[in-house]
Amino acid sequence: MIEISGVSRTFAGRHGAVEALRAIDLTVAAGEFLAVIGRSGCGKSTLLRLVAGLLPVSAGEVRVAGEPVRRPRRDIAMVFQRPALLPWRTVLDNVMLPVEVFRWRGAEHRERAHQLLDMVGLAGFERRLPHELSGGMQQRVALCRALIQRPKVMLMDEPFSALDALTREELAVQLQRVHMELATTIVFVTHSIQEAVLLGDRVAVLSPRPGRLRQVLRVDIPRPRSFGHNAHLKEVAACSAELHELLLEPAPALPPWPEPEIGMDVPLRRRPEGIPSGRP
Ligand SMILES: Nc1ncnc2c1ncn2[C@@H]1O[C@H](COP(=O)(O)OP(=O)(O)OP(=O)(O)O)[C@@H](O)[C@H]1O
Ligand SMILES: [Mg+2]
Repeated sequence: MIEISGVSRTFAGRHGAVEALRAIDLTVAAGEFLAVIGRSGCGKSTLLRLVAGLLPVSAGEVRVAGEPVRRPRRDIAMVFQRPALLPWRTVLDNVMLPVEVFRWRGAEHRERAHQLLDMVGLAGFERRLPHELSGGMQQRVALCRALIQRPKVMLMDEPFSALDALTREELAVQLQRVHMELATTIVFVTHSIQEAVLLGDRVAVLSPRPGRLRQVLRVDIPRPRSFGHNAHLKEVAACSAELHELLLEPAPALPPWPEPEIGMDVPLRRRPEGIPSGRP
């Protein structure tokens, strides 16, 4: 469903170019749930924005459903860290927003909006305004808003990271159910090893500076998975430990970029001008 081939992305920053991602090759099968994990700044959000068509690649190509991605598309939905709901619109009207933007038929989608809200446990909240909901409920509305466009691919950038630990768990379990029911292809970025193991069919580990694909780990634990006591605690622990090691290990050395100036690494033998010697 998603083919990322030889994708690199460099940003021109004020203090020189930043190589955010280098030569990423990754495919995600239809209906698969891929978790992406990596340290801060290793290019996770950049990768999602490239797949979403919100940002052009510097090299390589991204294809979704066989078509190159060059701009945002209706069959690709994105959920961000903050729910970004329109505060003056009710829950139902927020979910219906894409329907209005794309000028789809209201009546049939309204029914679908109710079904989606029901699926995430928000039946009865359709007429509320966003400020009347908790953060977790707002994020569920954002999830429904993404799902109403029946996306082939849903991209989620740390969607639960602003929530408290218990709400986060609850939403992760619920998202798993949504995924099992709808079989949408999902790429889910997270900092949390626990979340990655709970949600991912596979977990892609990125290493930083520049962002590279370190390893892709398959999570062979039956679903539905949960955080609490269950029959697979051993497998969960083993998988988590492996991810932990991968995240802590320094990435293998690469030729630096940009090329260092000759002499940059030569140790200083003379005191540079302007630095006092320390003697009176
Ligand atoms: N628009 C931009 N202009 C310049 N540099 C950028 C831009 N966007 C991202 N970067 C740089 O690219 C690198 C990767 O950033 P990115 O936001 O993708 O990381 P991340 O893995 O999502 O980090 P976090 O976990 O903190 O969200 C960082 O060094 C960042 O400073
Ligand atoms: Mg990010």
